[in-house]
Amino acid sequence: MRMRNRGHLDERIAACKNITLEKYDDSARQFIDGGTLHIEIGCGKGRFITETAKNNPDIRYIAVEKVSNVIVLAMEKAANDEIPNLRFMRGKFEVLAESFPDKSVDRIYLNFSDPWPKKGYAKRRLTHGGFLEIYKRILKDDGEICFKTDNRELFDFSLESFPENGFTLSEVTFDLHNSGFEGNIMTEYEEKFSQMGFPICRLVARIER
Ligand SMILES: C[S@@+](CC[C@H](N)C(=O)[O-])C[C@H]1O[C@@H](n2cnc3c(N)ncnc32)[C@H](O)[C@@H]1O
Repeated sequence: MRMRNRGHLDERIAACKNITLEKYDDSARQFIDGGTLHIEIGCGKGRFITETAKNNPDIRYIAVEKVSNVIVLAMEKAANDEIPNLRFMRGKFEVLAESFPDKSVDRIYLNFSDPWPKKGYAKRRLTHGGFLEIYKRILKDDGEICFKTDNRELFDFSLESFPENGFTLSEVTFDLHNSGFEGNIMTEYEEKFSQMGFPICRLVARIER
């Protein structure tokens, strides 16, 4: 049974080959074509990135996700909607990032990143210093990171880790949905946790120059 499911997953992933990038290679360069590049790390089922890409046809988007049976749902959604400015990369971002050139990304979205609450796993948080060093290298000088989460502990951790690692913060809110912020696109997790009554936190981080 497991084998059959796995085979089926491979087939579904293969069917989305034309909207997939292995890494930042010549195909990626061709897709980006010198334009503006926004990436989402941990796109999950892809509602945010598909809607965002549809609303901004002049921006190129790359959605990264490490779990195959999750990213396949996002890819199928995108394939179905035919979104020419969106591509997917499957794998751990920290590995894929090695293929990204310096100063190649205009914006990074981190939406409802896994909180990894235990101290021993802090290095896995996508706002840990180790990841922030990667973002610093691949972001353009005027690039930015847009981060939102329902997890107050992760948000508080990030409020410290960004400045400690040379970022300045703006647009900090502890209640995004009541902040007057316009044009918010809800992710799957955002809908679930805000319906459960959790306020959504958001910030924007830019490299201090
Ligand atoms: C809590 S889910 C949120 C999904 C989506 N952004 C949302 O808001 O609905 C976090 C996602 O990030 C992915 N993820 C976590 N660490 C990652 C990494 N290092 N590289 C790529 N994806 C990662 C997980 O597999 C998971 O699908």
